Amino acid sequence: MKLPSRVKLVEVGPRDGLQNEKQLIPAAIKIELVHKLQAAGLTEIEVTSYVSPKWVPQMADNAEVMAGIQRKARVRYSVLTPNMKGFEGALASKADEVVVFGAASEAFSQKNINCSIAESIERFAPVAEAALKAGMTVRGAISCTVGCPYEGEVAPERTGYVAGLMKQIGVQHIGVADTIGVGTPRKVQAALDAALKHYDIDHVSGHYHDTYGQALANTLASLEVGIWNYDTSIAGLGGCPYAKGATGNVATEDVVYLLHGLGIATGCDLDALVDAGTFISEALGRRPNSRAAVALLNKRVA
Ligand code: HMG
Ligand code: MG
Repeated sequence: MKLPSRVKLVEVGPRDGLQNEKQLIPAAIKIELVHKLQAAGLTEIEVTSYVSPKWVPQMADNAEVMAGIQRKARVRYSVLTPNMKGFEGALASKADEVVVFGAASEAFSQKNINCSIAESIERFAPVAEAALKAGMTVRGAISCTVGCPYEGEVAPERTGYVAGLMKQIGVQHIGVADTIGVGTPRKVQAALDAALKHYDIDHVSGHYHDTYGQALANTLASLEVGIWNYDTSIAGLGGCPYAKGATGNVATEDVVYLLHGLGIATGCDLDALVDAGTFISEALGRRPNSRAAVALLNKRVA
């Protein structure tokens, strides 16, 4: 089995991670985190969300964070935009990429973005059109591709259906998300296969939460089908306010350790990632939720 020789990581910690923290984190800390992440070699960073501050107060400082980042030419900065109001924020902040986010399950769509799957596509269509016109790229996230906190198991055809709709409105790349981390390798591969009916292998990524400890196994299973784009989160931060009990995304440090061990290039410096993860974990008053990071930190002390 031939695995990809390189992998591109989209770091989602500042967005997926920090959206889920009870305590409000000062914008200055978020900005410093982004600086540490780009210094560690990450070239795609999902910085924040332009969503309702009443729904997700943790992301209310979106414009301040975007304005405060010292940008690097080789790094692309993305933001979540559920509708045209969100797009206007993204445009004003000069994001490189917008992310529309739908779901493979109707119930999750309603809970997360307050509309049906069909309505969400109607909201995303003008966002995709305007973003492409403005020279931004458009990514789509599909939540609950293997399981939903409200509907239970989700059939791969549901992912295929939403992927097809996203393709029709001009979304260029889609992320297959296991929002609540219930997936196991064959189920995740089935969801990816459904997405790959509409997008080629270069335009599908994996986004795996680690609630049941399966995210690394699911990453390896995805590598086996040729997927070479992944969303990961520094220090394993993350979760979704509308997916109770779901824990963070697979830790960037753990995925980089896995990939480097397999001889797959990431462009990242693992020690610098551990420093970034330690920085944000200390700000949150805990240790990184990454086995590789904790092992390397223990080794440093020894
Ligand atoms: P709505 O209430 O249906 O929207 O919310 P509305 O158009 O009826 O507007 C209601 C109010 O929201 C108005 O304000 C609007 O101005 C405001 P009011 O008049 O009441 O003062 N509003 C906005 N404000 C700021 N930015 C906006 C915006 N849009 C409307 N863009 C909406 C719809 C989607 C906005 C709302 O449901 C929302 O913000 N939901 C939060 C969704 C969210 O952020 N979820 C977490 C991220 S997704 C995720 O984590 C999953 C992912 O990681 C993949 C995975 O793991 O599955 C991506
Ligand atoms: Mg997520």
